[in-house]
Amino acid sequence: MPQATFTFPAGFLWGAATSSHQVEGNNRNNDWWAWEEQPGRIIHAHRSGLACDWWGGRWREDFDRARETGQNAHRLSVEWSRIQPAPDRWDEDALERYRAMLRGLYERGMTPMVTLHHFANPLWVAERGGWENDETPVLFAAFVQKTVEALQEYCTMWITINEPNVYTFMSYVSGLFPPGKTDLRAGMKVYANLLKGHVLAYRIIHNLQREARVGVAHASRPIIPAGPLTWLDSIPANITNSFFNEAFPKALMTGKLQVLNFSAHVPEAIGTQDFFGVNYYTQELVKFDLTRASDAFGRRFYPKDAELSTTGFIAHQPEGFFKVLKWAKGFGLPVIVTENGVEDADDHLRPRYLVEHLHQVWRAVNFNWPIKGYFHWSLVDNFEWERGWTQRFGLWGLDVDTQQRIRRPSVDLYAAICKQNGISSEMVEKYAPGSLLKLFPPA
Ligand code: GAL
Repeated sequence: MPQATFTFPAGFLWGAATSSHQVEGNNRNNDWWAWEEQPGRIIHAHRSGLACDWWGGRWREDFDRARETGQNAHRLSVEWSRIQPAPDRWDEDALERYRAMLRGLYERGMTPMVTLHHFANPLWVAERGGWENDETPVLFAAFVQKTVEALQEYCTMWITINEPNVYTFMSYVSGLFPPGKTDLRAGMKVYANLLKGHVLAYRIIHNLQREARVGVAHASRPIIPAGPLTWLDSIPANITNSFFNEAFPKALMTGKLQVLNFSAHVPEAIGTQDFFGVNYYTQELVKFDLTRASDAFGRRFYPKDAELSTTGFIAHQPEGFFKVLKWAKGFGLPVIVTENGVEDADDHLRPRYLVEHLHQVWRAVNFNWPIKGYFHWSLVDNFEWERGWTQRFGLWGLDVDTQQRIRRPSVDLYAAICKQNGISSEMVEKYAPGSLLKLFPPA
């Protein structure tokens, strides 16, 4: 068997990604907490509850775990509803806690990346119509100003908005996220307001901090015509790709957010991205289906032979990752993988998912594409939105009742990769033998 190591560039960022509502616990003052209280919204009536108890201080032990296992970076989000619990009130203690968390990363030699909006809104913002209200970008900008002023000592890498496409789709098209609307018109308004909020935030951050690098975490999920009538299947594929994958990043180049016959002109958006954040989990096939008008006349599905995650949510499709990285580098910016991972409670797929996806990143850096880091979703199992606790994305498992962390084999695999800044054939043989021939084929 050939022995080899796929080495990554010096200074590559290796970390995990988390978000405030999913890990902090007791986030009672936001729209997600209220949503969880409504019957039927969350599978099995699960609740975020204490989550991973980071607000109670368990971020310390989890950051220790990350550092001890070779991670040199961490992406977390701050909770708008904690920092600004009411329109006329700032909570300095909350800001102090976030400062302590970032200092905690700094002291552990880890580079922080902070997300300013990760799906949840303060209740008072939701009550004013959320992102449908044209004032919300300005309210968001005030929050960003206050927050970045307080945290800039410890952070220079910022994500303004996590997955504007997923937020818009889930909250205003499928209705699975609050406010649960199925109203494309409202969705388009929200999409445009997220863009405006991003632009204001981008400028504010740069005014405060010259060395700041600011981006968006773009959820990227290729939709491929299934064939054999590819021309027909291309109709739903093109519509969905344009709405979901392309509209927002293109608007940051052209100043125009365009989806079908909807367009919003935001010329100030041009060039408001210092790096391209990629969240990649999987890709899908689509077939034209006349009965599915609300799904752009498409039925989406995974290839029959694809290996699926525990609940069937994600198909193992590493080749889609390479395509996405190629597309992302076309924007002419450094690329950072801001999320990638799989829900896999018993860790039977994650080791192979991890090495095969990182292998695609390695292939990409070998073309000299400027990929600067990788954040695995996630460090510890956390509250997975409308899917509650049924999906386990953590390197570490979590016993929600006892707060006990469970070390999955993937922890040691990822630690070996981070520490060596590379993937060796020995590691793959030990932790993901099923991927060995694929990654290191015999000559
Ligand atoms: C992303 C989201 C994360 C996490 C992940 C796994 O869309 O940004 O918060 O939930 O999916 O489902």
